Order: sequence, then C-alpha cells, then structure tokens
Amino acid sequence: MPEIIVALDYPSVEEAVALAEKLQGRGLWLKVGMELFTLGGPDIVRELQNMGYKVFLDLKFHDIPNTVHGAVSSAAKLGVKLTTIHLCGGAEMCKAAVAAATAASGLTVLGVTVLTSLSAEDLQADLAMYGFEADPVTPSPATLAVNRAMAAKNWGLKGIVCSPHEIEKIKAVCGENFICLTPGIRLAGGATQDQKRVMTPGKAASLGSDFLVIGRAITAAADPETACDKVLEDIYKAKLV
Ligand code: C5P
Repeated sequence: MPEIIVALDYPSVEEAVALAEKLQGRGLWLKVGMELFTLGGPDIVRELQNMGYKVFLDLKFHDIPNTVHGAVSSAAKLGVKLTTIHLCGGAEMCKAAVAAATAASGLTVLGVTVLTSLSAEDLQADLAMYGFEADPVTPSPATLAVNRAMAAKNWGLKGIVCSPHEIEKIKAVCGENFICLTPGIRLAGGATQDQKRVMTPGKAASLGSDFLVIGRAITAAADPETACDKVLEDIYKAKLV
C-alpha cells in the first residue's frame, strides 16, 4: 500500500490544523508546502508532528549547492521525514542535498522531475522563451521526467516526484525500490484545476506509486473527511483486484 499524504495548502494555520484534527486516526502523512510554511514556519511543522503526523516538507529547494545543503540540514533538524529539491538545479546542487540528508539520517530527499502542472505545450513555450525554436524532438514531459529520474539516481537520490503517468517507465529504468511520489491525483470525475497530468488514487496505487500527494480533492471538498475516505476506498479496491 502506498502512503497517503494530504497537502495542507491553506492560507491560514488555523484551517490547516482544523483539517489535521479531523483526519487523525487514518495513518496519513501531511504535507507542509510553501503556502503554509511561509505563514506558519517551523511551529506549524512541530504542531503537526506533536499530533502524531509524519510531515513532508515540500519546499522544492532550488539554489546554489551550499544554500541547498544548509536548507536540507535545517529540514532534518526539524524532524521532517521527506523533503524536495528541483532536479533542474543540477548535479552539484542535488549531490549537496543528498550529502546533507545522509549526514543527518532519517530524512529522505526527493527530486522534482517535471511539475505535474506542465504540459508538452508548456515545455515548448519554455523553449521559445529561451530563444530556441519549438521542434518535434523536444522531449515530452514524460521523457524529460524519466531522463531526470535517471540523473537523480546517479546523483544518489532515493527517489523522485513525478506524474503517476510516469511511474512505470521510471521504475523500469531506476528499479522497483526507487521511490515515486505522485501528485496530480483526482477522484474520478473530479475537477483538475491547474494540474494537466492527473490520475485516480486507485490507478496510481496499482501502478506502484509509493506516496500519493493529494490536495484539493480532499481540502476543497465540501466534506473533506468523506472525500479522504473515498480516496482510501479507491486505493483499497484497486489493490484488491
Ligand atoms: O491540490 P492538488 O492535489 O493538485 O495538490 C498537489 C500538491 O502536490 C500541491 O501541494 C503541489 O504543490 C504538489 N506538487 C505538484 N506537482 C509536483 C510536485 C508537487 O502538484 N511536481
């Protein structure tokens, strides 16, 4: 069974804590991302940990190697279990993050391959921004994600963040134990909002996702507890077949 991480992407600490209280007892992890961390800082992380949750600190570090090394060391001191860096920060930055996590122990650093909000058209538009012609050999988000995952493995990372559509290809080249954490999860028929490459929780679980990050499918639901239970049910059903 994959671990389920609920993304507490809220504009206030009170809303985040209220949902954390409601969802207790389900064995979930919680994600503190940049919206909540910018407001609540380390205190909100400690509060959630004191409630018994494991915390995924998703700040997607992307800076010079020395700064990222320091940021990952700080995340380890805070006691979070998972954190993220952008793989496009390059080899030295990624290796610095791995070194900091290894020195601290207990913290796993995952590399973001390609944001699940980006489509093939967005990547083409990026090329144009850098002054290159759009061309048919520009890698698709999936190819880019697999290439970056292989680089991540070579740099010593234990896993990556990817779209659930890329799990099979990444596990095939990086190995079954290479961790795939997947956002872009929606219940069947749910609104996709800004995500372009989405999948249901059950399908992502059956493809081998190790961690499912789920935000608005739960947080924006009229009844988040019921939505959360539907997610868990979808996964159990998929894993039974
Ligand atoms: O609301 P939704 O389920 O789309 O939220 C997905 C969560 O996963 C957000 O917190 C977002 O920051 C995060 N995420 C993502 N794509 C990535 C990495 C993280 O959507 N590549």
